[in-house]
Amino acid sequence: MKKLFDLTRIGSLSLQNRIIRSAVTDRTFDGYISDSIINNYEQTASGGVGAIVTGTTLVDGEEKLLPVTALCSDSFIPGHKRLAEAVRKHGVTIISQLAYIGSYTATGDNGGLVTLAPSSVPNIVTGTLAREMRAGEIKLLQKRFADAAVRAKEAGYCGVQLHCAHGLLLSQFMTPHYNHRNDEYGGPVENRARMITETYSAVRRATGYDFPVWVKINSSDGIENGVTEDDVYYLAKTLASMGVDAIEVSGNWTPYLLKSGAYFKAAAEFIANENSVPVILTGGNRKFHEMDAILNETKIGYFGMARPFIREPGLMERLRREAGA
Ligand SMILES: Cc1cc2nc3c(=O)[nH]c(=O)nc-3n(C[C@H](O)[C@H](O)[C@H](O)COP(=O)(O)O)c2cc1C
Repeated sequence: MKKLFDLTRIGSLSLQNRIIRSAVTDRTFDGYISDSIINNYEQTASGGVGAIVTGTTLVDGEEKLLPVTALCSDSFIPGHKRLAEAVRKHGVTIISQLAYIGSYTATGDNGGLVTLAPSSVPNIVTGTLAREMRAGEIKLLQKRFADAAVRAKEAGYCGVQLHCAHGLLLSQFMTPHYNHRNDEYGGPVENRARMITETYSAVRRATGYDFPVWVKINSSDGIENGVTEDDVYYLAKTLASMGVDAIEVSGNWTPYLLKSGAYFKAAAEFIANENSVPVILTGGNRKFHEMDAILNETKIGYFGMARPFIREPGLMERLRREAGA
């Protein structure tokens, strides 16, 4: 029988339990890590969570005016070093989530930021109209992800997670609504998945094959002309066969608006059954007995939680009590 508080490994990483604090954006006005951000992480780590995925961290200097943390140049490394140390000293795995936000950024005064996208299609949530990326910009952005991953490694993170979900740029490439390209990055799923698989390969090449790389993917988009189940399973299978260390299964553009528990369980279960990669199910996990049942009835091995960590500082203590651990 598997338990939520089993000591397990994801690749080379040891986790003291199967609960993962999913990414929650860290607000900062200049991209740098502040003391209050570090204090928040340290508080979460001290509760004894298995791993923490940081909030979206920008890889591209062009997006640096957005009010979230960045790793788009070496000047950001010292702050991340302090953050990684503050978490690791509690025996908690810390993963840096890397992202290019793109047209999901709100319109308004963004300092003349040029927003890039697979195709020039207004964003359903924000209305932002991005410019279609040129071939050279695609390769350049892949390099930016790789460079940021190298900085994350230097800062002492245990690994990185590529944010390929929630309508951010990497997930837009998968989505027919946003991707109208007719080059090798558009059309059939093999092409729409290429931006993600090439970015993954670029990160692997740059960081070395022993540095953990996780991905967070959309199992559904929740819009017309979004990804199909087959698209998602193709992407998961391809990434698993390429050696990705863990797949976090999320979905939609606003996953926090969904109501009923463990929204993406069916897709996560299928991915876990079909591939030997560790699968993290995220979204709506709330109750110990529900997670315990999923753990023992499926091959899903990990549970991502975001809002419960925000509103219940004693979350891990309660779960430990309920688990009798
Ligand atoms: C305030 C807030 C900020 C978030 N920021 C991020 C983020 O930076 N990156 C990300 O992948 N998901 C982000 N999410 C989504 C969560 O990681 C998670 O997928 C979602 O909230 C569903 O999980 P939950 O039901 O446990 O909250 C955020 C969610 C919230 C509520």
